[in-house]
Order: sequence, then C-alpha cells, then structure tokens
Amino acid sequence: EEIEKGGFEHFMLKEIYEQPKSIRDTMRGRLLVEEGVIKMAGIWDHQERFLNAKRIIIVACGTSYHAGLVAEYLIEDLARIPVEVEYASEFRYRNPIINKRDVVIAISQSGETADTLAALKLAKEKGAFIYGINNVVGSSIARITDAGSYTHAGPEIGVASTKAFTAQLTILSLIAIKLGKHNGNLSTERFNALISELDSIPELVQETLETTAEQVIEVAEKYKDAPNALYLGRGYNFPSALEGALKLKEISYIHAEGYPAAEMKHGPIALIDENMPVVIIATKTGHYEKVVSNAQEIKARKGQIIAVVNKGDQEVRKIADHVIEIPNSSEEFSPILAAIPLQLLSYYVAVKLGRNVDQPRNLAKSVTVE
Ligand code: G6P
Repeated sequence: EEIEKGGFEHFMLKEIYEQPKSIRDTMRGRLLVEEGVIKMAGIWDHQERFLNAKRIIIVACGTSYHAGLVAEYLIEDLARIPVEVEYASEFRYRNPIINKRDVVIAISQSGETADTLAALKLAKEKGAFIYGINNVVGSSIARITDAGSYTHAGPEIGVASTKAFTAQLTILSLIAIKLGKHNGNLSTERFNALISELDSIPELVQETLETTAEQVIEVAEKYKDAPNALYLGRGYNFPSALEGALKLKEISYIHAEGYPAAEMKHGPIALIDENMPVVIIATKTGHYEKVVSNAQEIKARKGQIIAVVNKGDQEVRKIADHVIEIPNSSEEFSPILAAIPLQLLSYYVAVKLGRNVDQPRNLAKSVTVE
C-alpha cells in the first residue's frame, strides 16, 4: 500500500496531486487543438440525439451530482440546450416526465451507484437516450447506456472524490463545447479560444497546487477546531461551494453548508458571527461585484472570510481575513481550478484533526444499495 501511495501520506493527497495528469489523460485523443476539433465518438455517433434533444437531464449522486450542476451552466451557456440536474434518488421515485427526445446523462465515478443505475434504467424504459460518464471501465452503468465517455482519471481509492470530479468537469466541458459548435451556438473563433484554454488547464491546475498549498495549510491550522463552516459561491462556482462543503463534511466531520452566495440572506446569515468561518469563492469572472458585496455583508457581521480569488485581485483582499489565489481563467473552467484549494483545505483540516482521511467513518466509495 505504501508503494501505491507513491510517497504521499494518503491516497487522497496523491489523487489531489495527480489532477494535472488525470485531466490531461481525460482530454487525450479528444481535444485536438491544432486540428481545431473535439473528437468524442459517443457524442459524434449520436449527434442527432443530442442536437435534437428537447432537454438534457443529468442524474447523479454526491460529488458527481455537483459536477452535474456545473454542467448545467456549461451546456446551457455554450450549447443553449435546456438542462435539468437531479439527485438520482429523487428522480427515480417521483414519476418523472421523460420523453423520447430527452437525453439522460448519468455521471458516476464508480458506475455502480444503485440510485443512479436505477434512474438510468427508468429513463431507458421510457425511451430516452441514455449516456454515461463513468470512471470505471465496464461498470454496470457503462454497460446499460446507449453511449458514453469514460473519464480517464485512473483508479480513485480515497473515499472522498477528487480527481474523478475534475475529470468529470473536463468531460462535461468537452461535451458542452462540442455541442455548442455543432449546433451553431459557438463561432469558430470562440470554439478555438475555449479549446486552447481547456488545453492549458492541466498546467494551471499544476500551478494552483504549487501556489495554494502553503496558504491552505495555514488556514486549516487556524480553523480546524471550528464546529461549522459556510461555503458560498455564485454562478459556475455555486456548485464549487457545495462541493467544498461536502469535502469538509466527509473527511473532517465538521458541519459545513454550501450555499449560493445571494441566498445567504434568506437564512445562513443568521449564523454568522466572529466564530463562523466563511469560505467564499470570488473569482473575477461573472458576478464578481455581487460576490464582493456578499463578502461585505459577512464582514459586517464579523464572519471570518477565507476567499478564493484570482491572481491580482484587489477588492476582496480588502475585506477577507485570508485570500487564496488561483490562476485566472474563463468562468467556464474556474470550477476546476477552485476545486483544488478546497480539496486541500478539507484534507489538511482532516489530517490535523487526526481523521481517517481515506476511509472516513460511515461512508463507502461505492454505494450499491439504495
Ligand atoms: C459515495 C462516495 C462519493 C461519491 C458518491 C457518488 O457517496 O463516497 O465520493 O461522490 O458515492 O458516487 P459515484 O461513483 O456514482 O460517482
């Protein structure tokens, strides 16, 4: 096992550091920047189904569900196809309306999650086109889908998902950009700009790992004994807030909530005082000014702000107690970069609390019972 950990103390840390490679592996053979194409047989062979889709329904659980939420922004923005994202466990039991012109995408690292599998079977029975995004080759979900794309993140051992999540975001970005190109929503120029930026994401993830770890360790030390934490974000980074909170809960057992930043005033703001750490994702893209004003509202109530910002940020720095800088990117790819310090934060808090990081209590890597 020590050999498998490749010198890292835990599988989770190893997997966090593998992300430049796992994202690159997921794009390999698919993203051909010089030719100006995205090659994805699963999509290409079934173009008609996707391009004629009335809507895309994404079903998933846990971290994969959060990747699905990012996909809602990606696909609606770039391809202008309506997207709904559902917890598989809710979807399957509420007599959902499914049409033959729907495309149902199941996102699952393991490809074995019972609720996701059942939701997919239901969609198939009702005649939808079903597509899988899985990490485990030959998994149950991969076997029943009409088509799909594997994430090539490699085996993920840590129960808390890290590299599978960013690989899912990579695949979903490829799908959104490809569909946007084929349905005429993206100009060639915009398409080329997006694919060349996506191609540089592994290097930016590497840079994020190198430049944020030290600050994150400091923040982890300072807040490790907090009983609660709030995570806020907007737009593309609202799901990042949910995922950051989930990571902290899963492995450190600290109660954490993720919320859309503006929704804070409808409840969570009542919890804010000098003892409440608030992690706020305030990247320079989309809604930046609004997030700054949300940060001011937190500060006015003496909350402790840990802000994930872009390099060179000026505004949030004035308000926040701690800033963690990530590289600049387009909004579309910012959730991949924002995920890195949030994963590291949960990891270091859990380690400092002496938790069993790779095998947190009560959780399983693959949930094959409903
Ligand atoms: C479990 C795991 C999570 C995972 C979720 C969905 O709860 O502990 O890490 O996100 O299942 O798993 P899947 O394999 O379907 O992505």
